This record gives sequence, structure tokens and C-alpha cells, in this order.
Amino acid sequence: MRVLALANRKGGCGKTTLSTAVASAFAAGGVPAALVDLDPQGSATAWAECRPADRPKVRLIRSRPASLADDLWRLTSEGIVIAVLDTPPHSDAALAGAVAVADAVLCPSLPSAFDLLALASILPTLRQSGRPIGIVLTSVTHGTVGLRDAEAAIGSMDLPLVGSMGRRMVYQYAAAKGLGPTEMGRRHEAVAEVEAVCRWVMSTLEGR
Ligand SMILES: Nc1ncnc2c1ncn2[C@@H]1O[C@H](COP(=O)(O)OP(=O)(O)OP(=O)(O)O)[C@@H](O)[C@H]1O
Ligand SMILES: [Mg+2]
Repeated sequence: MRVLALANRKGGCGKTTLSTAVASAFAAGGVPAALVDLDPQGSATAWAECRPADRPKVRLIRSRPASLADDLWRLTSEGIVIAVLDTPPHSDAALAGAVAVADAVLCPSLPSAFDLLALASILPTLRQSGRPIGIVLTSVTHGTVGLRDAEAAIGSMDLPLVGSMGRRMVYQYAAAKGLGPTEMGRRHEAVAEVEAVCRWVMSTLEGR
């Protein structure tokens, strides 16, 4: 089993939206996938609870840093191939615990200067872990100067920008139904955005 951690100390940057999008895209592609909810807020759990029964199963498990290793063993023994860890905001313990067991780390961030500063503040910890790190900009408006500035800022962090996900209602509609944007029944820009992230995840985890 491979483990992907979604990590950012900042709240509201799209961790849960991206976790559910990636986990459901893998499940829909036939890869046994689990979503590990490390956030007491329980947004990923709420998503899984309203996932329609006729959709490919995403195994949901609630966890906390102290039980994470055991919970991951359980998922491995169940035949799960990829576990996606959704982490809470403002918790260094959860962030460190998730990164310690991860094979790769994805950091979603809004493109604003304040958000990028917050992202930069966790990078020393992430880099120290030696794990592959990818950045995903979320809720972006394509074609804006702000996005170009954000992309340049990430370039100067010397980390891969895995994707830029547009600010689109389909992310919210899908999440409210327990679905991923790739499962919304028609091709739209969000599908390509999620698929680009999944390609990075697959190629990075394959090399681990
Ligand atoms: N690409 C997007 N387009 C539009 N809305 C989005 C997008 N990504 C996330 N959102 C919305 O932004 C809000 C925050 O997203 P989300 O809950 O995924 O962030 P989070 O980092 O998990 O938050 P928290 O730190 O509270 O756990 C939600 O209302 C979500 O629906
Ligand atoms: Mg969340």
C-alpha cells in the first residue's frame, strides 16, 4: 500500500476537496482506495457517508496521530492499494504524523501571498522528511496576474507545481454528493485538473 498525505497547516486551502477528488478518482479507476480522516472536524467522513452505494467504494477510516500506524496496517491487510490522508488545519502533530508515514506529500494552497507564506513555513519540516513534495494551487482564477505571481513564487521554492485547480462550483457540488469531480457525468475542466494531479501521484508513488 502507498500513502499520500495532503498537508498544509493553513485552513480552508482545499485539503479535503483534493483528498476526496483524488481518492474517488483512484477508486473509479479500479484502484482499491482509502481516505483516512485525521481531522476531528470530520469533513472527509461526512463526504464518505453520503457517497452513493453504487459508486466504487472509498474505504473511510477516522484516525488520529497516535493510532495512524495501526490504522494503516489494517488498511494494508484489507487490500487497500492507496491511502489518502486528509489532515486538519493548525495541527503540527497531525501534520508531522501524516508526513512520517507518507510515501509522498501533496500541499494544496490558495494562490494568495498570505497563503503562500503559510505554505513556505511548513516546507522546512516537509523537506526534512525527505518525502517527494508536490504543490497544487486551488481555487485559482486562470489567466490572472495573481496566478502568474503564485506560480512564480512556487517556482522559487524549487518544488513541482503539480496542478492549478480552477475555482469551480463543480468541486463543491461533487463534494456535497460524496463524489469526485471526475464522477460528475460530463467532461469539464475540473476532470483534467484532477487527472493531472492523479498522474503525478501515480508516477511519484510508483517510484517509491
Ligand atoms: N477548486 C475549488 N473551487 C471552488 N471551491 C473550492 C475549490 N476547492 C475547495 N473549495 C471550497 O473551499 C472551501 C475549503 O475547502 P476544503 O474544505 O477542501 O479546505 P480544507 O483545507 O480541507 O479546510 P479545513 O482546513 O477547514 O479542513 C470549501 O467550501 C470547498 O468547497
Ligand atoms: Mg478539511
